[in-house]
Amino acid sequence: MKLVGNWNYPTPIRFGAGRIVEIADACAAAGIKKPLLVSDKGLANLDITTKTLDLLEQAGLGRAMFSEVDPNPNELNAEAGIKQYREGGHDGVIAFGGGSALDLGKVIAFMAGQTRPIWDFEDIGDWWTRADADAIAPIVAVPTTAGTGSEVGRASIITNSVTHEKKIIFHPKILPSVVICDPELSVGMPPFITAGTGMDAFAHCLEAFCSPHYHPMSQGIALEGMRLVKENLPKAYKDGSDIEARAHMMSAAAMGSTAFQKGLGAIHALSHPIGAVHNTHHGTTNAVVMQPVLQFNRPAVEDRLEMAANYLGISGGFDGFYAYVGELNAELGIPKNLTELGVENPDLDKLTKSALQDPSTGGNPIEMTYENTLDLLKSCF
Ligand SMILES: [Fe+2]
Repeated sequence: MKLVGNWNYPTPIRFGAGRIVEIADACAAAGIKKPLLVSDKGLANLDITTKTLDLLEQAGLGRAMFSEVDPNPNELNAEAGIKQYREGGHDGVIAFGGGSALDLGKVIAFMAGQTRPIWDFEDIGDWWTRADADAIAPIVAVPTTAGTGSEVGRASIITNSVTHEKKIIFHPKILPSVVICDPELSVGMPPFITAGTGMDAFAHCLEAFCSPHYHPMSQGIALEGMRLVKENLPKAYKDGSDIEARAHMMSAAAMGSTAFQKGLGAIHALSHPIGAVHNTHHGTTNAVVMQPVLQFNRPAVEDRLEMAANYLGISGGFDGFYAYVGELNAELGIPKNLTELGVENPDLDKLTKSALQDPSTGGNPIEMTYENTLDLLKSCF
């Protein structure tokens, strides 16, 4: 396959099918001699994980793994992982998996050398400067899904197990030192996870593209990211072994995360509290609320989305783009609304207030108030 490359933007990425064989070399490049591989419960016994541990062991790097990671990882998962990391005398983390494992792996590498509690490093103002940066361990990231893009991000989403709020933990040094993007690792993803994670990548690109902040580089990346999803997500969904479609989706995921430095918006502002309280799949939730949010933002994004529609080969400007999202969701078997997604007895008042506190709210092109956000949320059921 020709889809191979070595990229240094935004961090060194070894891209291409089969490149997981470079895992020991990637650890060496990151300065890691005794890694802890952080994965999740679902991945722990899969072939791709066992083979990766084999590669590490053959290279004399041990085969230590921590996999007690919940789908929405919380501070208790982090504490358990940090304990294992310290007791094992590790000197770096391989974050291996989907968004949950990548986010938790990054946090373990971050927190293993800190003395303050994790919530002191929430992404607020310059709180990240409270950290002892020299004590942050190096990270090699290996995504096995194509959605979160956390492998190229400087933040982790951790759920507070007491308050059920999702918090963004940020530090520039938790950007992984080396990334291996091997699309073969994503071949085993079942269709509904392919769909949900793929729509997360699309939501990152779409929200970054619509955010009013000035960041032309992100704008371009977001646009091409949407095109890659449009061309490849239906193919990867229908035929999970289509390695080219898987490769392009893995690129789109990294691009979405790179682009959303420009900001996210109401899709994520709604999706975060719904996921935290009702344990819904993050990307699938984004897909469900996407059309209502487009309608909500219409006055501010109509012209911009007409440009995107032209580039994506969608006719009809904003209306065409809106209709396309509905068709894509239907093609991917995404539930039609939050009720169908399984959100029962929602506390609309609480969800609205949490949405307004979510950092993504600041990137939405229309100002979100209690009244309009409550109406928006109601329209998602
Ligand atoms: Fe997301």
